[in-house]
Amino acid sequence: MTQKATAWAPANIAFIKFWGKRDEKLRLPMNSSVSFNLSNVFTVTTVEFDKNLVDDEVKLDGKIVDGKEKDRITKYLDKIRNIARVSTRAKVESKNNFPVGTGMASSASGFAALSLAASSALGLRLNKRKLSILARIGSGSACRSIPDGWVEWKEAGTSEGSYAYSMYSQRHWGVCDVVAIVESTKKSVSSTEGHALVESSPFYKCRIGGMRKKLKMIKKAIGEKKFSKFGEILEAEAINMHTVMMTSEPALIYWTPETLRIILKIKEWRERGLEVYFTIDAGPNVHVICLEKDARKIERLLRTIEGVKMVVVNQVARGTHLV
Ligand code: DP6
Repeated sequence: MTQKATAWAPANIAFIKFWGKRDEKLRLPMNSSVSFNLSNVFTVTTVEFDKNLVDDEVKLDGKIVDGKEKDRITKYLDKIRNIARVSTRAKVESKNNFPVGTGMASSASGFAALSLAASSALGLRLNKRKLSILARIGSGSACRSIPDGWVEWKEAGTSEGSYAYSMYSQRHWGVCDVVAIVESTKKSVSSTEGHALVESSPFYKCRIGGMRKKLKMIKKAIGEKKFSKFGEILEAEAINMHTVMMTSEPALIYWTPETLRIILKIKEWRERGLEVYFTIDAGPNVHVICLEKDARKIERLLRTIEGVKMVVVNQVARGTHLV
């Protein structure tokens, strides 16, 4: 007999970022973060536990995964097997709606989908909070892909206290994330490795010192739907995080000439009256945040910039669910 389930999970974009952990193993963040789910960057994962298997089998976008990547997944499945008190091996088949090598292959959607598919296949009926905690242990930002719409992930001293919840549904506010994907070689330093370097930046203390106030302000701007305020905070926050990255030892420089070219264009568009702001994760792609009414125009404008390979328009999406 086999036990099987399939889950859909979105990637998410954070406006207050998760950078730096207080507990590496449990992936407890140094600060709370705020994000929304992306409608057009997602993962669909099927997990099938089968008594006849002698080892886990993992397929990602049609390719068998092994080495370090597979290890991370097997160890993660072990945690879920422990909860369910079984030792059955599983076949995992995961598909991103996104071509690999674009820097968009997301551990957030990957672990969110895996947590729901694997726990459901084993008959564990976890509530959203428990599922968010389970996803967090796979990859920190994955916990934010579990709840619907606009999400906050709470910082806490314990594993039980640090989960993500939905502040507002996907229908709360028509904001879009238009992602400009630029030429990219594979990341040289993963975000997991990057998190461990934060203390080496002289600016990290200053970043954490300003967090409480910033979180309060952005939550207020989202609640009251004040777009300029929201945009100013999220853009300053992205620059703040990248300052810490660039001043770590070794320095982490994720921006490329294309990244900066887009940033400068955004400033130019804004001066001409178009309300757009940017945020950037641990890679060169630029997430352009705008109101729904401007999304198509911004998509067109981004396509004219040299070095932009692909543009993806995202609305705010619901969270992880079974399909
Ligand atoms: C820059 O969640 O990928 O995207 O827990 O080590 O898997 P691990 O880290 P991860 O870190 C995300 C970092 C970020 C900011 C963010 O999404 O908040």
